Amino acid sequence: MCGIVGCILKDKEAAPVLLECVGKLEYRGYDSVGIATSASEIRIQKDQGKIDAFTENLDMKELPGKLGIAHVRWATHGLPTKINAHPHTDCQKRIAVVHNGIIENFKELRTELINSGHKFSSDTDTEIIPHLIEKYMDEGLDLEEAVRSAVRDIRGSYALAIMCRDEPGKIIGVRKESPLIVGKGEDEYFLASDVPAVLNHTNQVIYLDNREMVILDGEEIIIKDLDGKILTKEVHTIEWTPDMAEKQGYEHFMIKEIHEQPDAVKNTLREEEDIRNMVRDFPEFKKICFVACGTSYHASLVGKYLFETLVGLPTDIILASEFEYSGGALDKDTLVILITQSGETADTLKALRIANEKAETLAIVNVLGSTATRDAKHVIYTRAGPEIGVAATKTYVSQLTAIYLLAILMGGKEELLETLQKIPDFMEEALKTEEEIKVIAKKYKDTYDFFFIGRGFSYPTALEGALKLKEITYIHGEGYAAGELKHGPLALIDDDVPVVAVTPPGHSHNKTLSNLEEVKARGARVIALGSKEDHVLKSEAEDFIGFPSEINEMFSPLPYVIPMQLLAYYISIYRNIDPDKPKNLAKCVTVE
Ligand code: G6P
Repeated sequence: MCGIVGCILKDKEAAPVLLECVGKLEYRGYDSVGIATSASEIRIQKDQGKIDAFTENLDMKELPGKLGIAHVRWATHGLPTKINAHPHTDCQKRIAVVHNGIIENFKELRTELINSGHKFSSDTDTEIIPHLIEKYMDEGLDLEEAVRSAVRDIRGSYALAIMCRDEPGKIIGVRKESPLIVGKGEDEYFLASDVPAVLNHTNQVIYLDNREMVILDGEEIIIKDLDGKILTKEVHTIEWTPDMAEKQGYEHFMIKEIHEQPDAVKNTLREEEDIRNMVRDFPEFKKICFVACGTSYHASLVGKYLFETLVGLPTDIILASEFEYSGGALDKDTLVILITQSGETADTLKALRIANEKAETLAIVNVLGSTATRDAKHVIYTRAGPEIGVAATKTYVSQLTAIYLLAILMGGKEELLETLQKIPDFMEEALKTEEEIKVIAKKYKDTYDFFFIGRGFSYPTALEGALKLKEITYIHGEGYAAGELKHGPLALIDDDVPVVAVTPPGHSHNKTLSNLEEVKARGARVIALGSKEDHVLKSEAEDFIGFPSEINEMFSPLPYVIPMQLLAYYISIYRNIDPDKPKNLAKCVTVE
């Protein structure tokens, strides 16, 4: 998983623009960065590490030209080193390629190419692409035909941006299963893995579909299929401003995005009418099956409790990466709901393809025009705006909101819409706990293990709290159904282990309180989240985070997750970790 960009500018040098654009894609990977520009020849600069360090050591004069391509890498094949950084080239260094995706048959192709005399200089799967293009150009094809022939040989996923010394002034892009968009500015042309990369230059965007190719020559945008047939594509106007993709004064994207959550929920709530219309046309389903990964999986788990409670349908929930092994019991009476903020997670897209063959599919997605939105039979947009922090926050609460709307409308429980409308205000209240959370974060920043417990609707919140902690603080956090503690993890509890108990008022409250007694008896230090008026809970806890008492169990996942996110964020800050770019992780996982 990587980010790619390309640009052809009218009267500006490409290198600084490429750096700026690819900087907006750092959430896709930050193992290495590289740029190629073209004037009389192709010049390349690349290095391991993040863009800021790369830019500091870069002499822009080394990269002349108004046209170029750039890349940020999240390593899949080959270590995250300078040699493996993109762009990659052919033997004669006349073709430069940046790639997002995985070439599954690269080993066979590499052996064939080496046997016919090609010299490789990296361990990447990508490097076979410029060599394949070189092979076809040597056979007499022009760049466009050679690219088409090369991608026909490739098995796997790719979004590519390609330039060639022999056809200066041209960039070719092509995609299959990895995203690629075209940006159309004023006599300027862009290619990118995602919209934020180009927003400072244009809001006019074309989404390429699988097996489509774009040829940019500085004059026009030509889009073709892989048989060379010219296609007409819609140009979308993007309403996200460049500002929306920036930090707006916050220290990190993550904290900015945590604070944007009440607005994100309000935006999702605006989808009520569209969801109502969609639900009206639904056939009568007999079963629901949620499929997702990571944080989106936790949103799905809330969905399971909601659908079983409000719609009364049996509801499965399957991790997308497990779907091909266990998602078989589907039929036309099943609604498969895929939750994916990016719409590009490889495991989820694969599950979507399988599900499409047997059942009705609905994708709940944040990124407009992403693959899931095009592949699913029905789509709900969460409209949370761009999320740059690797750890999902505002997209999670937007997903939850979309699921609440869907379950309420499918279950005919319209009376609950009023409560849902109040949630953004409760979330504003939850954000006011920030100062208290800072104190707790400071106190526990050097802890090795954390437990997060909850029952019913609070169980997914406990899982999400633990995931946030792991992702950005590198502290072991374990989310557990409170009732399960006695079946194993209780053995791990002692006075070094803080236990975060999610205990809103409702059905599960008293039982979680008993579980809390059990951990306290083993010495655990309890951080409890509950109603401000819950004096018993307050007296049991060493630290207490209070919420308005009107927030009941069913709606608690939305506001109660906020202190969890803040706790992880501030522990990360106090441990000197960059929460926006946790090690080994990436925002959008386009490999299985
Ligand atoms: C990655 C991200 C997570 C996200 C998961 C699923 O692991 O780091 O934050 O929850 O992918 O992503 P999706 O885009 O499918 O929701």
